[in-house]
Amino acid sequence: MSTFEQELNRRRTFAIVAHPDAGKTTLTEKLLLFGGAIQVAGAVKSNKIKKTTTSDFMEIEKQRGISVATSVMGFEYNNYQVNILDTPGHKDFAEDTYRTLTAVDSVIVVVDVAKGVEEQTEKLVEVCRMRDTPIIVFVNKLDRAGKDAFDLLDEIELKLKLKVCPLSINIGQGQEFKGVYDLYQQKLCLFSPNTKSEEVREFKDIHSPELDKLVTPFFANNLREEIEVLQTVYPQFDQQAYLQGKQSPVFFGSAVNNFGVKELLDCFVQIAPRPQSFHAAQREIRPDESKFTGFVFKIHANIDPKHRDRIAFLRICSGTFHRNTNYHHVRLDKSLRFSNPTTFMASKKELVEEAFAGDIVGLYDSGNFKIGDTLTEGEKLQFVGIPSFSPELFQYIENADPMKSKQLSKGIDQLMDEGVAQLFTRNNNGRKIVGTVGQLQFEVLQYRLEHEYGAKCRYEPIQLYKACWITSDNADKLADFKRKKASFLAKDKHNQDVYLSESPWMLQTAQTDYPELQFHFTSDFNLNQEN
Ligand code: G4P
Repeated sequence: MSTFEQELNRRRTFAIVAHPDAGKTTLTEKLLLFGGAIQVAGAVKSNKIKKTTTSDFMEIEKQRGISVATSVMGFEYNNYQVNILDTPGHKDFAEDTYRTLTAVDSVIVVVDVAKGVEEQTEKLVEVCRMRDTPIIVFVNKLDRAGKDAFDLLDEIELKLKLKVCPLSINIGQGQEFKGVYDLYQQKLCLFSPNTKSEEVREFKDIHSPELDKLVTPFFANNLREEIEVLQTVYPQFDQQAYLQGKQSPVFFGSAVNNFGVKELLDCFVQIAPRPQSFHAAQREIRPDESKFTGFVFKIHANIDPKHRDRIAFLRICSGTFHRNTNYHHVRLDKSLRFSNPTTFMASKKELVEEAFAGDIVGLYDSGNFKIGDTLTEGEKLQFVGIPSFSPELFQYIENADPMKSKQLSKGIDQLMDEGVAQLFTRNNNGRKIVGTVGQLQFEVLQYRLEHEYGAKCRYEPIQLYKACWITSDNADKLADFKRKKASFLAKDKHNQDVYLSESPWMLQTAQTDYPELQFHFTSDFNLNQEN
């Protein structure tokens, strides 16, 4: 096997997603501790965007600035190169998270045992399902009283629409949490509440009386029964099904107590996918192709006005990326070289000489990149699957300083490329509408326009329920729809048709009246059509 093949085989690029407070940061940190990427607990936590409910967006922006360092956290574990892509916990930045999910090969979903499946988790898993991303579920906080494991497994199947396959099962919970049985490795992991530590031992025969001594006869019998039920109700673990996104292994543990985390990591590195193929509009790109290709999935602006540079995060899709080498920026049709590309190792940035398919590199950018941009060795490729999501909040944006209209349109243009929000222009009157998924995005946009571009804007309310992209094979019907609904049509920044519906009823009626039209809730319909 070539060294390149070996490098691919040992790479695991993934994201951890969860509803805020389920324990994503804690789990990330424990994984980094195992990988030796950090030495003390708390290193990631201090970088975390606090869950402010107020509009303290400056604080959030500051913390977003700091969180550049934790955008990608790489470490080695048992000779695997693990790359964790961080996702903002704040729901107002959910779109950042959605885009990051386009750059990973798999996902770990954290669920709080007491709260069960929460809203944000449902949305994020829905995005993962769009591209059949393999998912592992980690049920957290077993040291607290919570839902019954079987009820929770049902809830995960129902709400997240995943076919689950428990690879561990808890023995008691809350005050009576005894540990977990690791079905994958046939090990018993015992929890000691006083030292909050884990004792792990091989335990292949659960019928051995030894088990009664270790966890009490009551819990031993319970465990035996539960394992029997698990084996009849749930399918056997099938790695192929997992890799195709058709089966999701479930683990139980307690991240803060470092319990069940090593079992999760050990299994994860073994079963999780190596770098996967990506779709370009022209063809499929395999990671083992010798030529380098990659796309930008995230742009991070430096909020320090003295350093106006931005960092573009590039997912390498194939081949090897080298420092100081000319690459082709497909959209601009121009050659670019990067003298200080970086990787991010939890707390420090490191210069990269070379990076392989599956890796993420940070490229310093002075305005060349938009989200979705492609770099290659010369081939004209355009990666698909970096969608815009139908926003949920809308406001008209107006110029509040007529002397600065140029700065305003430049600012809006660049910030939209960065993915801060989405812009639609109404067909009937040319008014510009900003769409976001969170209120904070409006404030960030206004603040940055003023501080980075010297432009002032104000917002005006608009009654809108959804903006969705419309297409049809039937040109006549599409033209008819556009004529009849002229006052509810807009263009997005790529000049694509967007239908602005004012209420769920209006959208539903349009869908019923025009069955020949497709109403898309992500702008990535090219990919959906291919699939
Ligand atoms: P998030 O990134 O998903 O938002 O969650 P985070 O890791 O910040 O965890 C949210 C809270 O849950 C934290 O408490 C954390 O300590 C706690 N937690 C995480 N894992 C477990 C667990 O296994 N058991 C229990 N009982 N708690 C857990 P906090 O009070 O918000 O913060 P802190 O003061 O503990 O840092």
